[in-house]
Amino acid sequence: MTTPHLLSVADLGADGISEVLDVSDSFVEVSERAIPKVPALRGKTVVSLFYEDSTRTRLSFETAARRLSADVMNFSVKGSSAAKGESLRDTVQTIDAMGVDAIVVRHSSAGAPWQVASWVGASVINGGDGWHEHPTQALLDCYTIRKARGPLDGLRIAILGDIKHSRVARSNVLAFTLLGAEVTLVAPPTLMPPSLEGWPVAASYDLDDVLPKADVVYVLRLQQERQSEALLPSLREYTATYGLTRERARLLGEDALIMHPGPMNRGVEIAAEVADFPASVVTRQVANGVAVRMAVLFMLLGSEPNG
Ligand code: NCD
Repeated sequence: MTTPHLLSVADLGADGISEVLDVSDSFVEVSERAIPKVPALRGKTVVSLFYEDSTRTRLSFETAARRLSADVMNFSVKGSSAAKGESLRDTVQTIDAMGVDAIVVRHSSAGAPWQVASWVGASVINGGDGWHEHPTQALLDCYTIRKARGPLDGLRIAILGDIKHSRVARSNVLAFTLLGAEVTLVAPPTLMPPSLEGWPVAASYDLDDVLPKADVVYVLRLQQERQSEALLPSLREYTATYGLTRERARLLGEDALIMHPGPMNRGVEIAAEVADFPASVVTRQVANGVAVRMAVLFMLLGSEPNG
């Protein structure tokens, strides 16, 4: 049997996504117990191999692995031999040689998790590769929407902001549309991807027109660390035209959800108080993220002989 990986949302397809969401339900129940731990992955080792900064994704995977009773190893570039110039390949083969079962990879290069998967015997999970994909973020977002609003089929989802540099947008466009949602991208022309060919989405430059029709507005962080050129006249102008301000949030329907993957730039892409509105499910996204990552780890590792 070949080792299973989770590299892209596309690997799962609509049925695979729904299966992960169904399994996540049972792990939400585990997370709510007084002792939120099950022995499902006892004896397994999960490594987080993060070449890029992270708060949520790393802690979420590590929490998920511990709740399944797996052992957790944690690799940061800082303080490792990667800082001495060791290659990605030598680093992952060193880790693999210690006998690990899953490696969660975050890297600034698109495609790095695919390379890692070709070098090791462990299951590889993409924890975010460059501008490319972030599949577990998309899964936890689908889970959060399904839990709050029911099936995504027919829901109108607006993805707002720095789409060009966003791996979250790429994975979410795939996942939302596979589940039948109608997706509209809203961004200034300089923050739209150069081509939308092959993306089953609509695009708009007019946020005020899109908001009243949206069931969900998914706000993206303005990723200034990824912008090598001046793509915006000023932050103030960005906020004025594309920020989810208090006034704009009033255009949303009564049941609409406000989402953000974090980290938020409060006062830039989303007003500080809007992030705390009852319609905002930002902290629910984080909580659900642990259960969804438990489901992913369990589905990848749990069916093996000593699982
Ligand atoms: C995102 C990421 O790093 O891709 N954050 C996350 O994983 N929750 C989004 C971002 O950095 O803007």
